[in-house]
Amino acid sequence: MRPKRSARPARSAPHQPAAEAAAARLPRLRSAARNLLIRALRRRQTTRAFSDRALSPEVLSELLWAAFGVNRERGPFGAVGRTAASASNSQEIDLYVALADGTYRYDAPQHRLELVVPEDLRKLAISRGQSPSDPGARAAVRLIYVADVDRLVHTRGLQEPGLRDPDVQRSYYYVDTGLIAANVYLFAAATGLGAWFHNCDRQGLAERLPLEAGQRVLFAQTVGYPPRRVRGGRR
Ligand SMILES: Cc1cc2nc3c(=O)[nH]c(=O)nc-3n(C[C@H](O)[C@H](O)[C@H](O)COP(=O)(O)O)c2cc1C
Repeated sequence: MRPKRSARPARSAPHQPAAEAAAARLPRLRSAARNLLIRALRRRQTTRAFSDRALSPEVLSELLWAAFGVNRERGPFGAVGRTAASASNSQEIDLYVALADGTYRYDAPQHRLELVVPEDLRKLAISRGQSPSDPGARAAVRLIYVADVDRLVHTRGLQEPGLRDPDVQRSYYYVDTGLIAANVYLFAAATGLGAWFHNCDRQGLAERLPLEAGQRVLFAQTVGYPPRRVRGGRR
């Protein structure tokens, strides 16, 4: 699609110096009411205050799909496509979903939750340093990002030698985590939920989750409703 004329940076006059031309003003953003994505981006922020109100199964389902669900049956390299990009479409990040009644793995192709530990691990999904004053311990959901290095090494995508290099692997799985986390932030901003991306007790979680040798616990993200307002305010 051709960009609208007004969306282009202003052309510089022929006599304008190059530095001035490179600083041309961009058009003002159009009204957020006309674009839901712009509205969500305006609201995107980290929140560290949550109520213990659970998400309905429908909202949890949409959250997980938005985070890293399947959005195309035919994606690159013979695999399905997902809502977040991954290196060579390796899809090496798994989302573990810590809820009050247990901890699950999101099975995106089947769009279902598999119980992995019948235990509430939300309190471990924060760094040890922040755990004594953790405002998210009772929030509805804590997503735990776990990378599977074997999926990068044995990708069906581009066979780059770098995929066997730990530094390259790390760069890929951290970027891929960030792309999912951004989807979660935007979903939360669009639906009135709070979201908070943060460190976690990697060792404590690795001891409790049944992980393979190639799996690494990376980060976590808390999602939940804001605290109830006291004295007749809206929830
Ligand atoms: C890689 C990364 C690690 C983070 N770790 C923590 C953390 O351990 N604890 C915390 O309270 N916030 C953590 N945050 C949240 C940032 O502090 C927050 O995103 C930043 O202050 C900007 O605020 P904003 O998200 O509202 O724009 C982390 C964010 C990122 C991207």
